[in-house]
Order: sequence, then structure tokens, then C-alpha cells
Amino acid sequence: MFKHSQLESVKAWVVHPAHAAMPLHARIQRAIRQLIVDGALGPGKPLPASRALAKSLGVSRDTIEASYAQLHAEGFIDRRVGSGSFVSEITEFTPGRRLTPRDTLLRNHPPNLSKRGAAISRSGGVREVLSPRPFAHGVPETRTFPLQLWERLERQVRKEVGAQTLLHGDPQGTEPLRRAIADYVNLERGARATADRVLVLTSSQQAMSLCANMLLDPGDRIFIEDPAYYGARKAFDAAGLDCVPIRVDRQGLIIEQIMAEPHMAKAVFLTPSHQFPTGSTLALDRRLALIEWAARNRAWIIEDDYDSEFHYTGKPMACVQGLDPHDRTIYIGTFSKSLFPGLRIGYVVLPPQLVKPMTVARTLLDGHTAPMAQLTLARFMEGGHFGAYVRAMRGIYAQRLDVLVCLVRKHLSNFVEPHVPVGGLQMACVLTCDLSERITIEAARRVGVELLGLSALHAAGDAKAGFLMGFAPYTPLEIEAAVKKLANALRAVIKP
Ligand SMILES: Cc1ncc(COP(=O)(O)O)c(C=O)c1O
Repeated sequence: MFKHSQLESVKAWVVHPAHAAMPLHARIQRAIRQLIVDGALGPGKPLPASRALAKSLGVSRDTIEASYAQLHAEGFIDRRVGSGSFVSEITEFTPGRRLTPRDTLLRNHPPNLSKRGAAISRSGGVREVLSPRPFAHGVPETRTFPLQLWERLERQVRKEVGAQTLLHGDPQGTEPLRRAIADYVNLERGARATADRVLVLTSSQQAMSLCANMLLDPGDRIFIEDPAYYGARKAFDAAGLDCVPIRVDRQGLIIEQIMAEPHMAKAVFLTPSHQFPTGSTLALDRRLALIEWAARNRAWIIEDDYDSEFHYTGKPMACVQGLDPHDRTIYIGTFSKSLFPGLRIGYVVLPPQLVKPMTVARTLLDGHTAPMAQLTLARFMEGGHFGAYVRAMRGIYAQRLDVLVCLVRKHLSNFVEPHVPVGGLQMACVLTCDLSERITIEAARRVGVELLGLSALHAAGDAKAGFLMGFAPYTPLEIEAAVKKLANALRAVIKP
């Protein structure tokens, strides 16, 4: 027989609204199973006769029979003709008391992670904003995206390619998209790409993790810009690499510092077109020197070209990959900024000898990118829509940057100095008042304004305090409202 408390817990389970969609016999079966799994009904314990339990629960005997039959089929109970039903001896090899979920919860706290897993968990990963509010950085405008056109192209693909898009795809990426990407980077970024050197991925972030794990071993040194993009730094840290910070000035990465380093590194990571977060562009002589350094030392150049579509004064300088005759450069691109981050399509242009190993490695991560999205994007690019969309957004973003600069100069000149970028989706501001970066960011957050502090992006401790202001996804009115809120909030905290 059940104890009163056991009967009550079965009743509570049965009437719980979360279980309402289940048939009655399944609810009773699950409730009894839970008592067994939790150890409340130990091995060998008798279950009530089906007639008695039916009466206690106010259900038919057939319902209880169906529950018991399922418990028996799953091995939780034994049914002995003439004597009744008993909890199986499923724990006969477990000495001592069975662990309850509470015990295991306590034992698993903290979870049994590997050293690598614990370090990754501690790093917090890269959490992008889900619904951007001013001035969250790195996010494009998505409200203007031509969704109807995209849906039309998607329907065309489905009609023409049919059920093929529902199957597994080439882990390197669909050929039409690789061709479209190669044409685009050759034309717009001065790259030296062919479709067979392009590997389609889900993001730049995935590209960085792949590079870290496929090109370097734990403990290997990698030169990385200082300040640096946090996503790159976290990917390299997670792979156990020794990140050696290299200073950045107005002309980008200071190559002389690399040359002067007494110990070699196997790779260098940089954002040469538009340094994150300073916005500087790597000068041509430095590009050439870096290529020579990489060739001489058989090192890899990992070039993150994340938002070069959005240059507002003239064309951006051609990418490093296109200048590198020695095939030491891995070029990383993404559609997260140029189209929309939910697309989850990024890519790398690889030296020929890396195509096979990187593609194999990618099969272990997630197999491949969804073919439907890839083929739709290929059409979007082939049809000239990508170029047109980027041109339109460039105009919008340039105007928004102007608005932001004017408003910052008008309302925040007592607090910050803006560093107007030549491109990209965000602007850095350096604090010129007595407020600390932390106090500024907290004051902003209290009035619903997001700022990314600059100090945390620096490895050396002598960074100027300041923050990044994303401007791309906010209308001039939204920018104005947020700048005014920020000015009021800073005025309030600066008052003694
Ligand atoms: C410098 C830099 N690289 C890469 C990325 C990430 O792009 P993805 O969404 O493709 O991982 C970002 C996003 O903010 C970035 O700022």
C-alpha cells in the first residue's frame, strides 16, 4: 500500500496543469515512476492493488492497469501473478542508500568540469545583446532588411532545389555561395579567393575557434592586438593559447613590437581594416612587413575583416590576404554586420593547404551550415541585392554616425572626447572628466543606456578610460533621446 504522503504526491502530479496534455494513465505511471526514481518507493516495495488505487484516485481500474503495464514494460516494477506488483530490484547492485536528486545536486556543485571547461565557463563566453538598446555595439539595423525579397528568394530555392535542401550539405559550404563569396571578396576587398578556398561557417566566432584549435597547440603563443576584440581573446584563451598583447596606435598594430619580441609566436590575430575597438586602419607598410614576417617565420596571419563594408570616407584599404603572395593569411568574414546576425553565416578564405583539415575539423563542430540559408544568400548576392543593400545601409549608418557625433559634442562635451571612426558600427569615446569608467557605465545602465567599457579590452593596465557607442541600429531620434538621458545621468553622478 502507498503511504498517505505517497498517494498525495501521485494525486498532485496527476492534477498539475503542466501535465494536463498527457493521458490520465500516463500521468499516473509518471507519478509512480518518479516515486521510484526518487527512492521514495524502494526496491521490492509492494504497489497498491489496481482496484484499491483506482478507488483512491477516483479513476477506472483499466486506467491503473494501463499505468502498471507501462511501468512493467519499462522495467520499473515486477508483476507476480497472485501476489501483486512490486518495485523491481533495479538498485540491487548499488550498495547503501540510493542517492536522491538532492544528494546528486549537492555533489555536483560545483559541476565536474574539465579544467578547460571550467575556464571556458568562467570566461562567460560571448553573449551578444538579444534586443539592442542604445548604444549596444556591433549590431546592424535589421528593421530595414528586405524580408519579403528574402522570402521570395527562399521560395525560389525551395522550388528549384526541392527536397535536396532538407538533406545534409557539403561541410565546406554550398558551391553557389562559395562562388558568390569569392567574387565578392575579390572585387570589394581585393582578396585572392576562389570558391574552392572558401569555407562557409556559422560565424567569425567559429572561425576564430577553428583557427585556435587547428593551427596552434595549448601553450603556443599568439600575438593579438591590444586592445582586442573580446570574442577573439576568449576563443584563444579557451584553446589554451598564450595571448601576447601587441600595442595598437593610429596606424594599427605596431609591427615593430612583433619584430622586437624575443620569442616567436605561431600566429597573429588582427582587425586591420578597422581595428576593434580603436577604429584605426593598418598602414600599408605595416601590412607588407607583417606578411614578410609571417612568411619568414612560417607563422599564420588571422585577419578578421568583420565590418569593412561600412567605410564612410572612400573605399577601405584592400585586405591583407590579397597582398600576401605566400599564403600565410586566413581571411575571416561575416554576414552578421552586413546583413543580420540571426543569419549565422560567416566564412574563411583559406590557404589551399588548410582547406581540407579545416573542413574536416568543421564536421566535428556542427557538420555544416543550413543549405537553405546558404542558397538563399547566394541568390541574394548573385542578384545584386547584397551590394545594393550594403550601399543603402552605408548611407544610413554614415548619417547616424554624423548625428551621434554632433549630439555627443553638444551634450557630452564636459565628459568625453569622441574618436570619430572612418567606418564600422560603433564609435569610441574617451572620458575627459573625473568619472571612472565603471561609474559612468553603471549610471548609463540605470537610465537604460548600454555602453561597453574600453578598459576591459586592454591587456596592459594603462588604458584610457572610455566606452564604445554603437550607433547603427538606432534612428536619429533614438540616438538623440539616449544621448540626452546619458548626459543627465552623468551630470547627476558628477555632482558632489
Ligand atoms: C571584431 C569582431 N569580429 C567578429 C565579430 C563577430 O561576428 P560573428 O557574429 O560572425 O561571430 C564581432 C562582433 O561584434 C566583432 O566585433
